[in-house]
This record gives sequence, structure tokens and C-alpha cells, in this order.
Amino acid sequence: MARLNINGKLLDVDVEEDTPLLWVIRDHVGLTGTKYGCGVGQCGACTLHVDGVATRSCALPVSAVTVDQKIVTIEGLGADKQHPVQQVWAELDVAQCGYCQVGMIMAVSSLLAQNAKPSEDDIRSEISNICRCGTYPGVLAGVQLAAQRMAANKG
Ligand code: FES
Ligand code: FES
Repeated sequence: MARLNINGKLLDVDVEEDTPLLWVIRDHVGLTGTKYGCGVGQCGACTLHVDGVATRSCALPVSAVTVDQKIVTIEGLGADKQHPVQQVWAELDVAQCGYCQVGMIMAVSSLLAQNAKPSEDDIRSEISNICRCGTYPGVLAGVQLAAQRMAANKG
């Protein structure tokens, strides 16, 4: 049994402690926005936030997360209104097949929360998610535009 704080709700899930968090989120909680790609922590499709930090949930046993830690999935990121990263993604039409894009958006939104003005090198080194469709130029442009929008909204 594990008690988790997911998108602001406390949930009890009856799972083995070594169950990957991704399985819990998708199969037990029913939040299927977070995707399964490689299953070994390499591709980033399963990225969500744990206390605001981009985390690859396929490689994290549920027992490694405490109830005091806030898990946010894509469903929670855009719950009230779209996050600026989601708005920019739609505006620039970044996604192609879309499979990797939830993980991209979660990684990018975490990066911008920690580094409001990332350089191109920062973006290339921090966003290591894999996209089989090759949307990397769109992702780079999207991060830069989202950073500008978020800075303008703060000012
Ligand atoms: Fe988790 Fe690929 S599915 S990193
Ligand atoms: Fe298709 Fe990235 S948009 S895998």
C-alpha cells in the first residue's frame, strides 16, 4: 500500500513497493497522459514532476516517493488553464505524432520553473528527451518562446 499526493489529491494505492511510479499512475490511478516509452529511464516519455523536478517515472519505485512529495502529471499541469508551455506548443505546432510530447512539456515546464532564461546550451543539455519524429527544432523554439512569455507575464 502506498499513499501518494497526485495533482493535489491524496490517494491510496494497493501496490508492491517496487512497482514503478509510472505503472501506478497509469494502471492504478488511471491517469494515462503520462506515456510509456523505453521503460528504462532513457527516453523521457514518462516524465512527470516530483516536487517540481522533472522525473522519469518508469525508473522510480513507488516506495521512493513519500506522501509529502507533490507529484504532478500533465493532467495536473494544465488543470485550471493551459500552462504557458502547453499554449506555446499548440501555437507553434511543435508535436508531430505527439507520443513523446507530454514528457517534453513536463521536462520543459520544470526547466523553466528553475531557470527562467535558459541558454540554448542549457536547453540542449537539460532536455534530453527522445523524439522519434525529430521535433527538436520546434522544442528549442518552443522553450525560448515560452520563456519570453513567462518573463513578460511576470513583468
Ligand atoms: Fe521512462 Fe522511457 S519510458 S524514460
Ligand atoms: Fe512523435 Fe516526438 S512527436 S515521437
